[in-house]
Amino acid sequence: MTDLPQLDFTDADLDRIADTEGRIVVFVPEDGTLDKFGRRIDKLTRGALKRFAESEAFGKMKDGSAHLMSWPSGLAAEAVQVIRLDRKTKGEAARKAGAAIGAALGPKGALVLGGGLRGLDDVVLAALLRCYAFDAYLSKKADAHGTLTVMGASEAAQDSARAQAALAEGVYFTRDLVNEPSNILTTTEFAERLKGLAKLGVKVEVLEEADLDKLGMRTLLAVGQGSESPSKVVVMTWSGGGDEKPLALVGKGVVFDSGGISIKPAVGMEDMTMDMGGAGTVAGVMRALALRKARANVVAIVGLVENMPDGKAQRPGDVVVSMKGDTVEVVNTDAEGRLVLCDIMWYVQDRFEPTAMIDLATLTGAVIIALGHEMAGVYSNDDALAKAFLNAAEAEGEGAWRMPLGKGYDEQIKSRVADMKNTGGRPAGSITAAQFLARFVKDGTPWIHLDIAGVASLKTSTTLAPKGATGWGVLALDRLVRDRYEPKPEPQPEPAPEETDGAEE
Ligand code: BES
Ligand code: ZN
Ligand code: MN
Repeated sequence: MTDLPQLDFTDADLDRIADTEGRIVVFVPEDGTLDKFGRRIDKLTRGALKRFAESEAFGKMKDGSAHLMSWPSGLAAEAVQVIRLDRKTKGEAARKAGAAIGAALGPKGALVLGGGLRGLDDVVLAALLRCYAFDAYLSKKADAHGTLTVMGASEAAQDSARAQAALAEGVYFTRDLVNEPSNILTTTEFAERLKGLAKLGVKVEVLEEADLDKLGMRTLLAVGQGSESPSKVVVMTWSGGGDEKPLALVGKGVVFDSGGISIKPAVGMEDMTMDMGGAGTVAGVMRALALRKARANVVAIVGLVENMPDGKAQRPGDVVVSMKGDTVEVVNTDAEGRLVLCDIMWYVQDRFEPTAMIDLATLTGAVIIALGHEMAGVYSNDDALAKAFLNAAEAEGEGAWRMPLGKGYDEQIKSRVADMKNTGGRPAGSITAAQFLARFVKDGTPWIHLDIAGVASLKTSTTLAPKGATGWGVLALDRLVRDRYEPKPEPQPEPAPEETDGAEE
């Protein structure tokens, strides 16, 4: 797995600042007043920081943005990154600040003079997320990252910042899985990587084709039957809670989607290496939950298959019986995700009676037409659960937009020969896919379907991610678990006010 940079903490020892190599990061609020760290830097640089803080250039800076003072005299550091951020600011601006630190984190690391920031968690998380690079197959590797050292954080702030590293590791896990090409990340290799979660205390079970056949998961097996890679279902259980029933997470893990016999056009087909994004996200969430020892019960299930054209592949017009017993006419073998999901959704409800079920899938091109690459489509049969998820996504800056379900759409998936067909044509393509899945949700199970086709992997970089896999959803789902499925933690005390004692300078 791609390694995170090391995160370290040090006491507020101002005398270390002058000799620190690499980069130093200092925060200056809007009004330009310097804290004790800023005052020390100002003194060492003979007034340079104060001049900058009082300049017009500083006045024009936006919250969370950074300015680089290179090769400052009076310091051993190569540069001082001055970030405009108030010590009370949390959320978006603090994340932007962290991203600026992460994007510039070089081999010598950075000393972050941000112990007293209320937004320290955001700064640390964003810094860790932004320095991710997927260079497994590049002869010229990305620059190594030195240590990210935070000076002057209280014990509680350190613990809380360390928990951000658990989240970042979950996101890295998702990104690595989504970025891997399909000749490497076969169904077998995917299952192997998931087995690695066992070390963290996650129970991992792999169901093989023979098991799936016995269970009657025929729509899932039909998708994989044209591939040389065996279809697998992996069940991951994290039991950090009491004896309550678990939350279920369900992921589409199509390791490559050629479309099958309804083959896709050549242009852009290479992007279908990311069609396991749902499974990748679910895996990243489980990693984060285990690393931070979440006090909740969560079961995750992923369907790992490859959709290929072949003499043995399923054909358009085939009728297949799902595990639930409903029959499906496969009018388009490229609408394969719902065929994978419907069986594992049924199985996970049957076996675990979850208190709620959330599935994630790079399910339709149509959701990209509807929402672009800004927001995932959110479908739900439960307003309270949907609202809780949307709130969590908003708090994490992960775009999500509620979409409708409705009986009327069922008309589009009526089949002459079977209980339903697997596509409803072009109109409302993302909705009819969700409507198909809804038939496999048991009465009384609160459910969310997340169509992440537009957000799982991007051609452009974002504040927190380079081009490629984003890890969308890991943060929102982790937060949802915290908000809704874990006991509330003790309230944290606010950081102590900035010391006004000037003697230490
Ligand atoms: N994996 C694709 C959806 C997709 C498209 C994901 C673009 C990521 C980016 C899915 O299996 C698919 O092929 N859907 C078809 C459904 C259609 C045949 C009803 C689509 O969206 O075109
Ligand atoms: Zn697909
Ligand atoms: Mn497809």
